[in-house]
Amino acid sequence: MAAPHFVVVGNPVGHSLSPVIHAHFAREAGIALEYTTLLAPLEAFERVTRGFFAAGGRGANITLPFKVEALALANLASARARLAGAANVLTAKGAILEADNTDGAGLVSDLRRNLGIALSGARIAMIGAGGAARGAIAPLLACNPSVLVVVNRTPDRARTLANRFASLGNIEGRALDALAQDRFDVIVNATSTSTKGTPLELPAECLAPGALAYDMAYGPAARAFVDKAKAQGARASDGLGMLVEQAAEAFWLWHGIRPATQSILALLREGA
Ligand code: ATR
Repeated sequence: MAAPHFVVVGNPVGHSLSPVIHAHFAREAGIALEYTTLLAPLEAFERVTRGFFAAGGRGANITLPFKVEALALANLASARARLAGAANVLTAKGAILEADNTDGAGLVSDLRRNLGIALSGARIAMIGAGGAARGAIAPLLACNPSVLVVVNRTPDRARTLANRFASLGNIEGRALDALAQDRFDVIVNATSTSTKGTPLELPAECLAPGALAYDMAYGPAARAFVDKAKAQGARASDGLGMLVEQAAEAFWLWHGIRPATQSILALLREGA
């Protein structure tokens, strides 16, 4: 019998590290699986993804720009996918397609386990109010920070997000320049600035002593943000650990095994 087939669907998708990460987890768990990339034309996500599952595919990771469409495609969705308004995991359960979102859980795991950050009681700033920010808010609020302040270039989007999640914890929405008027223990860059090559500079005033500045982007794209934050005296990290941890969470959903993440994270960092 052929090994169960998994894919990452995106556009572009050739650069995706997901096949390497899942193959590594599978080897360590002693599981046989096939994990490949699947490029979907921008207007054909649904057709391509349905075709994969119709041919017996078991599960798909979904990357940009299809995460919102992935949620709409599913018959069932987890609470965290509905709150995020987007899905990065689709799983075939018989004839049913189930959507989930492991991105926020991946961020929280990276912050807590890999970077040793205590989120309970922390003052957290989230920069950005697009899809990447929205997916991380509920998992961060579940860690009981003293406050989560969403700041955004377009302040109304930050306020709308904060209102939407107000029942889940202490959350505020403000303009981007409000960052400089407060101090935070953790600052998460969830804007598209690094991936667009227009890196964001943090005002030094927003960094509490020992603060962590975290960019959800990874690799060369995140380097300018990370280097600048370090030069300002902060701890800083890119989002490679978030990528590995969201994959680990998907692996657990699909195979019922929680993979160790340290060795693949170290390997990917060596290759970076
Ligand atoms: P995604 O779904 O990938 O998060 P998005 O919905 O386009 O993408 O959101 C991008 C985020 O990056 C937004 O918060 C955007 O701010 P606006 O809401 O004001 O557009 C933010 N962003 C993009 N370029 C930026 C820049 N040069 N400076 C500050 N914020 C920026």
